[in-house]
Amino acid sequence: MKRRLHLGVRARLAGVTLLTMLALSACAQHAQSALHPAGPVSQAELGLMGFGFWIMLGVFVVVVAVLGYSLVRFRERRGDQGLPPQVEGNHRLEIAWTLIPIVLLALLIVPTFRATFALAQQQRGPGVVQVTVVGHQWWWEFDYPQLGIVTADEMHIPAGERVQLTLRSADVLHSFWVPALAGKEDTVPGQSNTMYLEAARPGLYPGQCAEFCGVSHSEMRFDVIAQTPSAFAAWVQARQHPDSTPATAQAVQGEKVFAQYGCGSCHTIDGTQFQGKVGPNLSGLGTRLTLAGASLQNTPKDLRLWVSDAHKIMPSTVMPNFSTMSSSDLHALSAYLEGLK
Ligand code: CUA
Repeated sequence: MKRRLHLGVRARLAGVTLLTMLALSACAQHAQSALHPAGPVSQAELGLMGFGFWIMLGVFVVVVAVLGYSLVRFRERRGDQGLPPQVEGNHRLEIAWTLIPIVLLALLIVPTFRATFALAQQQRGPGVVQVTVVGHQWWWEFDYPQLGIVTADEMHIPAGERVQLTLRSADVLHSFWVPALAGKEDTVPGQSNTMYLEAARPGLYPGQCAEFCGVSHSEMRFDVIAQTPSAFAAWVQARQHPDSTPATAQAVQGEKVFAQYGCGSCHTIDGTQFQGKVGPNLSGLGTRLTLAGASLQNTPKDLRLWVSDAHKIMPSTVMPNFSTMSSSDLHALSAYLEGLK
């Protein structure tokens, strides 16, 4: 009786878990799913996965069918005595189950090699945007060497065009993954890896570090923002001509606070004396959607929370907690940073 109850509780728990998972998967709208590709690279990878899946499903069905048939057809019957007839060394069977896997593997190898070599091709040429992606504990740096732009946690790309990435790490292993656009690629200390991706249509494609890299690994997110070529050109133009001049009295005060607390020794703001290279480049911060490895929305309130208590959001981040900063200084600082265009 007790065991029955246990099973009942377990069954209910399993039901609730399944329903929760279904509900959660529905609200994500497939934004971060490799099964809903949004570009040719992820499409090719899904095609490869699908091809392998159907072959393996076919093998599974045949094996289970033969197994089921054998269990029923050759089961022990009343009156059976001794061993059943032994069939080892059946040449036809031996040849069949050697040849069939060889044929199936050959079928898998051809498209796998073709896709692997095609996706490893470096994309070059004047129209190809090059981005150097640097993984840091726990944020992403995006450098556009041809364009002279450095930004963080938000990679802008032109939709419908190939984007060549060079991946590096500033500290430990990370893995760059935008499921809707391409498979994972590690960022390895002391080494450069390459990959390319393309978004077929404009949109926001969330990404995530996919390699455990320390206590705040789960907060190491980012967004890829694919824009129409003209909107991308406008973004490039804005980033190449940043507006870092404080526009209000409060923002002027905020710039002083930024200097006074030594923020500029870790952060760069283009067009100012602040040129630190430890933390994210903050130029144009007011135009970004997220903060702190995309773990916070970019609002003045969340920005103040981050400055005063960063370790609450991201334990072990090198960003200090400025918990003693006065409320007026915090408000001035957020006014200054959110005013960076
Ligand atoms: Cu970076 Cu996990």
